[in-house]
Amino acid sequence: MEKIKIDSSKCIGCGKCVKDCVASSLYLEGGKVKLREGCIECGHCFAVCPEKAIEMPGYDTSGCVEITPMTSIDSDTLLQAMKSRRTVRQFKDIPVEQEKIDRILEAGRYAPTGANSQNVAYTILSDKKDELERECVKLFRAGVKVGSKFSSSLKNKDINDTFFFKGAPLVIVVSGHDSVNATLASAYMEIEANSLGLGVLYSGFFCGCAALNPKIKANLHLPKGHKAVTCMIIGYPAVDYKRIPPRKPPKVNIL
Ligand SMILES: Cc1cc2nc3c(=O)[nH]c(=O)nc-3n(C[C@H](O)[C@H](O)[C@H](O)COP(=O)(O)O)c2cc1C
Repeated sequence: MEKIKIDSSKCIGCGKCVKDCVASSLYLEGGKVKLREGCIECGHCFAVCPEKAIEMPGYDTSGCVEITPMTSIDSDTLLQAMKSRRTVRQFKDIPVEQEKIDRILEAGRYAPTGANSQNVAYTILSDKKDELERECVKLFRAGVKVGSKFSSSLKNKDINDTFFFKGAPLVIVVSGHDSVNATLASAYMEIEANSLGLGVLYSGFFCGCAALNPKIKANLHLPKGHKAVTCMIIGYPAVDYKRIPPRKPPKVNIL
């Protein structure tokens, strides 16, 4: 299938797509845009063309709405929302609606990926959730038992049966070949989840268990070559934060 299709009857030869093409795959010839090899299907030509002369045949473009100034968020609101974000570890026993799950995944889908690989995968723990949590708890309890011989902070660590997923209704494991892409997708997803009134906990402990224990990893059925990069535990918060906590100053180097 062609990566992109140029409708020459609509192309006015303005060159906006040529200028913005990261792969230098577009060029002008006879006042019309032409495609050569190297296209990474990033869609910039599709997005920038004033005449809608570019089509992407391999993609569903039904949700590709026009961008208007309404699409941008004012900076104060966005920064305040990001600073108000808290890791949530207490959840209400209310399921997350499918429509909200779809929106969270949509946010992940639109995060940038290196070379536009779009190689991030989302594993939603449904029937397997309890079994996986049991396996992780077992592994973690055994690790804490050994560790407590060397570290006093581990002695009083209570690993209860819901230690990993905290009774939250939704768990999404975000995976990839590459940590950066999956991490960025997760950050987008968290912001969207927050905007839907949902709280998120990243479980580094779960990803650690998935990396250490072949049975847990196998049970996740991740795509070939993928590793669990983040485990996002999501639900309606059963905790109400009153103010933004302080942070360390940023470490900024100016060279
Ligand atoms: C990669 C990553 C892994 C984390 N893993 C855990 C975890 O396993 N258990 C947990 O309770 N919190 C976990 N957290 C949450 C952090 O502890 C939390 O971000 C930190 O305490 C600061 O709180 P805040 O997110 O509310 O600002 C994780 C956060 C990140 C970014």
